[in-house]
Amino acid sequence: MDGGRIVKENMISKFIEYFDDNIDNLAMYFSPGRVNLIGEHIDYNGGLVMPCAINLGTYALIRPRLDREVHMISLNFEDQGIYRFNLGSIEYDIAMDWCNYPMGIFNEIQRMGNVLDHGFDVLFFGDLPNGAGLSSSASIEVLTATMINDHYALGFSKKDIALLSQRSENQFNGVNCGIMDQFSIAMCEKDHAILLDCNTLEYDHVPLELGEYLLMIVNTNKKRGLVDSAYNARRIACDLGLKALNEAKPLSGICELTPKEWLTLTELMPSEEVYKRTHHAVMEQYRTQQASIALKSGDLMAFGEWMYRSHDSLRYHFEVSCDELDIIVDAGRPLSGVLGARMTGAGFGGCVVALVHKAHVEDYENHIRRVYTDQTGLVPSFYKAVISSGAGVWHE
Ligand code: GLA
Repeated sequence: MDGGRIVKENMISKFIEYFDDNIDNLAMYFSPGRVNLIGEHIDYNGGLVMPCAINLGTYALIRPRLDREVHMISLNFEDQGIYRFNLGSIEYDIAMDWCNYPMGIFNEIQRMGNVLDHGFDVLFFGDLPNGAGLSSSASIEVLTATMINDHYALGFSKKDIALLSQRSENQFNGVNCGIMDQFSIAMCEKDHAILLDCNTLEYDHVPLELGEYLLMIVNTNKKRGLVDSAYNARRIACDLGLKALNEAKPLSGICELTPKEWLTLTELMPSEEVYKRTHHAVMEQYRTQQASIALKSGDLMAFGEWMYRSHDSLRYHFEVSCDELDIIVDAGRPLSGVLGARMTGAGFGGCVVALVHKAHVEDYENHIRRVYTDQTGLVPSFYKAVISSGAGVWHE
């Protein structure tokens, strides 16, 4: 029996356990997580990003109810039991923990003027590692929006779903994220990365033709704390950089500036911190442009080199890396069969993504595990990324 069917059968038996055995109107959906290949911390600076969806993500079984109640349980947090809310009175409630993400989506869809006259029973299960920076929150948001859109035939496009999910996370959950995660999770295609211009929301599905190479995701398994406040501090520094640049040139985002123009404007920066953050954003835009050219022309060596440079900038200029991520990236650099590596996502822990030759994967894992555990006392986890499509009905 394959993994997908086991997941489905297990979820159905849990659904019956937590709700009841009336399963005629059950629908099953899946929404991926994402790994960003390059273009980090520039979605909110109007930059280019290049994420792809992976086959780890969030599954849901959903069934309509007759009343306006929504009852939800996650098999990842079974001890928290079933959360319940009514569509007529939705409010953020810290005690409702993860449920605030899907609840925010119901709230946002109604706030947009859609009348939802009945609720649902929903059972979730996710196989994304928790807190690993692979976008479990965007995954459940886009999943919920996709299910409601289908059920009520609301006619939202995938882009609408991405935008309303981001709005919900910004306004309902108070997390000031950019558009990258929700957009890629809604829009990605199998075996493709998405090259997204976060200024215009124009995008291109770029085939991920990696030949003898694959993408390894290495989870630091470091416990992360206070990521949201550090993230928001980076956004504030970037806004200050943009404000200062606007005195010389009207810009919609830092990433509109070319590296050459930036060199003539650096003295406008009000502080060393703002200089470093702005420098990262301008140069990361350039690196992402170059990396996408390299990928499209099949030059994986060059692509890997841009990954390393991106990591170094996140480490020294944007200062969102940490020892654990640096150790993993550095330990792979001298190995044959490793073309590039970088932290992926918001940082401060989470995962590294590395471009590794298929024949060297075992050596890579053994070496990284030994060095990393020696230096940190932590054991890393490894996933071979399977590049998947965006959220939708689950077909096993
Ligand atoms: C988080 C945010 C994204 C993006 C990345 C960093 O994943 O949700 O919008 O800013 O961090 O690139």
